[in-house]
Amino acid sequence: DNRGLKDFYRSYFPIGVAVAPRNLAGDEAQLIKKQFNSITAENAMKMGPIQPREGQFYWKDADSIVNFAVRNGIKIRGHNLCWHEQTPNWMFIGKDGKQVTKEVLLQRLKDHITTVVNRYKGKIYAWDVVNETIDDDPSKYFRDSKWYQICGQDFIMKAFEYAHSADPDAKLYYNDYNTERPEKRERIYKLLKNLKDKGVPIDGVGLQAHWSLQEPTETELRAAIERYSSMGLKIQFTEVDMSIYPWEKNSRNRKPGEADEFTPELAQKQAAQYAMVFKIFREYKNVITNVTFWNISDRHTWLDEYPVMGRKNYPLLFDTHLQPKKAYWEVINFKNK
Ligand code: G3I
Repeated sequence: DNRGLKDFYRSYFPIGVAVAPRNLAGDEAQLIKKQFNSITAENAMKMGPIQPREGQFYWKDADSIVNFAVRNGIKIRGHNLCWHEQTPNWMFIGKDGKQVTKEVLLQRLKDHITTVVNRYKGKIYAWDVVNETIDDDPSKYFRDSKWYQICGQDFIMKAFEYAHSADPDAKLYYNDYNTERPEKRERIYKLLKNLKDKGVPIDGVGLQAHWSLQEPTETELRAAIERYSSMGLKIQFTEVDMSIYPWEKNSRNRKPGEADEFTPELAQKQAAQYAMVFKIFREYKNVITNVTFWNISDRHTWLDEYPVMGRKNYPLLFDTHLQPKKAYWEVINFKNK
């Protein structure tokens, strides 16, 4: 059978994957071409990697991903234009060695966004413009990042305006995690509503979906989709994976190598959780415009290094040999259910 995820979901939404340049050859490249019709650069388009020094752009890695996608008829999501992580230090420091003013920082942000969006104009169909600005602490609103300290919340609105001027056809997204937790959901809702009311050019919200076997519940997931889409925003699930470790409780206490076996019981639970979330995705296909996995297979996932370095995780649909897991069959065998 030559069909892959993208074929089973053809009438629903594109199915994407996050990649690094090294994934674009050999068996991983074959798997990408068979299974996915959307791609995201896992790191290559972020601010630090792509503009390591002021005005000096490093395009090689991002270009190789874009060229691979274009050659193979794969859509491209851009990730990301403004974030508190992976931002180069020079961005916040002036020639005098002191912290820059709001005016200078916004000008630098504008130059960055204009240059990057322009280079891939017509090729990247959706951008994560701003990433993760809402605090995890329910008693706070915005994350206390350098961006926020220097600009207040204005950098968010400005980033969308700069991106829209550079490519009026690209779809523009705000992207965040833990977006189904009610307290964070409501604060993200408030931000997005505010942007919409001000007429900021925003098309949708990216729900990262770094999930676990416990989270989200069916109720929370539905509530989130309905809440965000109620203001007319499209939804993309931008970084889907399903950690086999519970997020807050046990994960930080586990040592590398400890309890890191992917047992049949875990495989079964993970398959059930994947089946549940994809069932809901299909129900909401009118508002969901992309579902992207964060990494290709269990051979390598960012979760192998986070939050515990060297503790193996198994969060994806393909195993370390790139073979489909139980969860894969659950995700594609929906027509008979
Ligand atoms: O490039 C350097 C390399 O030169 C150096 O030798 C090596 C040694 O540590 O580090 C390399 O950089 C690493 C980079 O990934 C590329 O592999 C960074 O240390 C590492 O921190 C970075 O991690 C990435 C992380 O974002 C950065 O915070 C992960 O790969 C990437 O999967 C992760 O992705 C994020 C999304 O962008 C936003 N949402 C959350 C998601 C998971 O954290």
